[in-house]
Amino acid sequence: MALLEAENVSFSYDKKNMAVKNVSLSVDEGEYVAIIGHNGSGKSTLARLFNALLIPDSGKITVDGFCSSDKNALFEIRRRVGVVFQNPDNQLVASIVEDDVAFGPENLGVKREEIGERIEYALKAVGMEKFRKSSPTRLSGGQKQRIAIAGVLALKPGILVLDESTAMLDPQGRKEILEVVRKLNAEDRVTVIAITHYMEEVLHADKVFVVNDGGIAMQGTPAEIFRRAKEIKQMGLELPLAAYIAEKLRQRGVPVPEGIMTEEELAEALCVLLPKI
Ligand SMILES: Nc1ncnc2c1ncn2[C@@H]1O[C@H](COP(=O)(O)OP(=O)(O)O)[C@@H](O)[C@H]1O
Ligand SMILES: [Mg+2]
Repeated sequence: MALLEAENVSFSYDKKNMAVKNVSLSVDEGEYVAIIGHNGSGKSTLARLFNALLIPDSGKITVDGFCSSDKNALFEIRRRVGVVFQNPDNQLVASIVEDDVAFGPENLGVKREEIGERIEYALKAVGMEKFRKSSPTRLSGGQKQRIAIAGVLALKPGILVLDESTAMLDPQGRKEILEVVRKLNAEDRVTVIAITHYMEEVLHADKVFVVNDGGIAMQGTPAEIFRRAKEIKQMGLELPLAAYIAEKLRQRGVPVPEGIMTEEELAEALCVLLPKI
């Protein structure tokens, strides 16, 4: 059984325009899943449906066997699905880092002794243990977002949803978050659902869902998705830089192989093609 499953889920905020239309998808335990789509395509609505902040109008969402349409299951779902949002400033509540991280578990009624352990685990997981007694206001954007992630990790969710959590960060901050999240996935087996419009953040995903006008327009591995360059662009999305350059070269008659996504792959292909100088 999938860890998170959406079956024919539809949702509308105003009973007129559908924000999410007949979406079916499944996420297995330990997977790293990326969701991409243009602005207003329904990604954040999906994130809110995943952790039962919103309930489908039709269809159903199940997390670890709990269905979000069942009122008694809401607590179990919210405990399992942690969402990190875009702006770290809106997610930090306390004036000292450790109090901030403790906020969630305290609200869940976790025992005092255990809260200490959770703070330690969460701050270590995001590489911020040295900042335990610091004030969040003095941290960089990337560091603040790492504290926001720690706050969610302290709840020990099996699934971490990042809703454009790197969008307000500079390249260094984005890199920090990406590394932390990849490590959580690889070493702690946290299931990751990364919503992003940075294509570089999609390349390492096990699978990708492309959302367009509230529905799933494509799904597959990153290589399968980015091979369909024309459709990707029609949906208002970019290709990863290396895939874009490879495509431009192909248009000029350079026989670069299909499916190139990373700078390394492009460099490798060009070395094969270029006459030795
Ligand atoms: N709180 C809201 N109330 C009414 N409509 C909303 C609300 N949030 C989003 N929408 C609408 O739902 C659709 C999907 O939005 P959203 O899920 O935020 O997309 P994305 O995260 O991909 O940008 C859009 O048409 C948006 O205008
Ligand atoms: Mg959004």
